[in-house]
Amino acid sequence: MDIMKTKFFADFLNVTEDGVGLGWHERNGGNLSYRLSPDDVDEIRDQLLPKSEWLEIDASVPDLKNEYFLITGSGKFFRNISIQPEENCGIIQVDEAGERYRICWGLLNGARPTSELPTHLLNHEVKKRVSSGRNRVIYHAHTTNIIALTFVLPLDSRVITRYLWEMSTECAVVFPDGVGIVPWMVPGGRSIGVESSKLMEKFDIVIWAHHGTFCAGSTFDEAFGLMHTAEKSAEILIKVFSTQRKIQQTITPQDFRDLAEHFHVVLPEEFLYDRD
Ligand code: 13P
Ligand code: ZN
Repeated sequence: MDIMKTKFFADFLNVTEDGVGLGWHERNGGNLSYRLSPDDVDEIRDQLLPKSEWLEIDASVPDLKNEYFLITGSGKFFRNISIQPEENCGIIQVDEAGERYRICWGLLNGARPTSELPTHLLNHEVKKRVSSGRNRVIYHAHTTNIIALTFVLPLDSRVITRYLWEMSTECAVVFPDGVGIVPWMVPGGRSIGVESSKLMEKFDIVIWAHHGTFCAGSTFDEAFGLMHTAEKSAEILIKVFSTQRKIQQTITPQDFRDLAEHFHVVLPEEFLYDRD
């Protein structure tokens, strides 16, 4: 099967196109990776041929040894990925030690995987473990309204989670674990990847202050849906703040407890504090 005709590839492109449509991928902003399943690999094995030397990941991910990832290229514009996939994304394989990778398809003309490769792979390693192998997608987008909130709200998971939950009834059901927050850090390296992956132990959504958002999911729909839901909620909050009017009513902690019971989700009490 031609790689570009597989379902996972179509789903990958769908996310890049929809993210562009929502304004989250200015220039080369954002990146996306998918951990191939054994069936995916079997389907395209004849096209996975080493195209580069082994290159340093700048992170250690032993639990991802020998795994293949479809991933966007560094400096590549999301709006071009579906037009010229082989130039703008590619498939890499992690080595036996989890220290290096090589390009096996795509990333033509000397392209390299996203500069956020350490964060993607460290997040994949955590999520693979905590989801018993189900999680396959890590998605980073420059979500306008979430970024805006990181200038005006305290960088506190309890505060930001609660605000996002309150802005839209579905939020607490869609991301009952809440959101994690990484304070501003230099992007594109190991350190921010380590901090992000610590939060991925607990959260499926991790916000990078003044930068963007990472979401994890077992499918492209799940990861994209998380991004979309949290960003929509942030947009509502920005609109509410923009009115400069006092909030007259909202979803209360008891409302959330009722919601949790009805939808059979667990909402940690740490987010259901009384606000005055
Ligand atoms: P890349 O072009 O290297 O993927 O970087 C984009 C980005 O969003 C960095 O955080
Ligand atoms: Zn970014």
